[in-house]
Amino acid sequence: MTTQTKPRLDPQTARQVIDPASYAQWTPLLDTFDRLREERPVVWVEAADDVHPPFWLVTRYDDVMRISKDNETFLNNPQTVVFSLTEGIEFAKNLTGGSPHLVASLVTFDAPIHMKYRKLTQEWFMPKNLRGVEDEIRQIASSAVDRLLEGGNEADFVKAVSAPYPLHVVMQILGIPEEDEPRMLMLTQQMFGGQDEDLNQSGVKNMTTEQITQLVAGAVKDFEAYFARLTAERRINPTDDVASTIANAKVDGEPLNDRDMMGYYIILAAAGHDTTSASTAGAMLALAQDPEQWARVRADRSFLPGIVEEAIRWTTPVQHFMRTAAADTEIGGQDVSKGDWLMINYVAANHDPAQFDDPRRFDSSRSPNRHLAFGAGAHQCLGLHLARLEMRILFEALLDRIETIELAGEPARSKSTFVGGLKTLPLRFEAA
Ligand code: HEM
Repeated sequence: MTTQTKPRLDPQTARQVIDPASYAQWTPLLDTFDRLREERPVVWVEAADDVHPPFWLVTRYDDVMRISKDNETFLNNPQTVVFSLTEGIEFAKNLTGGSPHLVASLVTFDAPIHMKYRKLTQEWFMPKNLRGVEDEIRQIASSAVDRLLEGGNEADFVKAVSAPYPLHVVMQILGIPEEDEPRMLMLTQQMFGGQDEDLNQSGVKNMTTEQITQLVAGAVKDFEAYFARLTAERRINPTDDVASTIANAKVDGEPLNDRDMMGYYIILAAAGHDTTSASTAGAMLALAQDPEQWARVRADRSFLPGIVEEAIRWTTPVQHFMRTAAADTEIGGQDVSKGDWLMINYVAANHDPAQFDDPRRFDSSRSPNRHLAFGAGAHQCLGLHLARLEMRILFEALLDRIETIELAGEPARSKSTFVGGLKTLPLRFEAA
């Protein structure tokens, strides 16, 4: 049906949108999204190489919301849900016998199977159930702050607190022993930050496509080997953790097959911490840059929920997801053909001035703050209540015990198109 010509993005901007390194340069990236939202809110991105498959980049809040909520027209299949290199997609297809997804998980399922899988663990992450683990989270937060203060009055907040804290929380909920957490962290960072030489721990700058693909595939394989052992254990000795729920789950009366089960563990193990780490570090950066706001919330904790919510919008740790049009359709006045791939860009949507006044400003009194950092529709983040709770509890502990904070160096962002945020945040602080 598409008779309209495709508005194409110029090669230089296309490069910026698909290059992981540009996500480490936040301000120019936001400038580009501002320009595109104005000029070409739905634009066809075709790289000058054959390394990257083409897609529609969607930058307006309303369009991203509409796509996210219309789970019949905009599917998570049959193409991959995360922007990937052509070679990576082919590699996954070869390895899995046809699926573009190396890992099969909630985000790679559509109706009707998606909800059947989601329901298996959904209850775990609801506020009612989380109240049962609140004390445990409070203890984890308190120990994280103890360790921070024991280390002196300067630290890289990411390494000291914002990375290990949510990792420990989600691993406790899953049922993973503490000694295995460093391995889980490394594998997650290799999977999500495959292109960043610090996060993937290769130290190799400008890795080739093949090197990145091998690294990510290696991380998935290692995750799978780990969880295969865990499943065997939890089937023999089920406990009250999420791992036991997954190991013993049934869908339509049948136990999960190995691939689906591994994917379930992996998404929970991986989605639950790097994301929360990024929003936590972002909140701390905003507060370090605004001592009055730190003092204000220390004096009056009713400001804390606003800070948490605004930090999640302001950082938008999950920077995009992809959808595939199930039928010829239209979005933002642009014809889109069946089978077209679309990037719903949460960073761009969460900085849309039509929805958020002065969007680059960290404004904890923003109300309403209906950001899209957790997505919307059938796939909306399963862990959103947990993420908010973890942040609130950690900040209560930090605010109780730290009088002042300030930057002690240059923060740095990760080079990643998918999950991104601060990878270092040097801070100086004074204990209360
Ligand atoms: C600030 C922290 C977090 C952010 C920004 C975030 C963001 C997101 C986003 C954008 C999606 C996709 C939504 C969509 O397609 O509409 C998602 C899905 C998901 N998230 Fe989170 N997330 C965070 C924390 C967590 C935590 C703590 C968990 C804990 C287990 C978690 C588990 C999941 C799962 C399982 C899905 C897939 C849901 C589905 O497809 O049905 N996330 N998240």
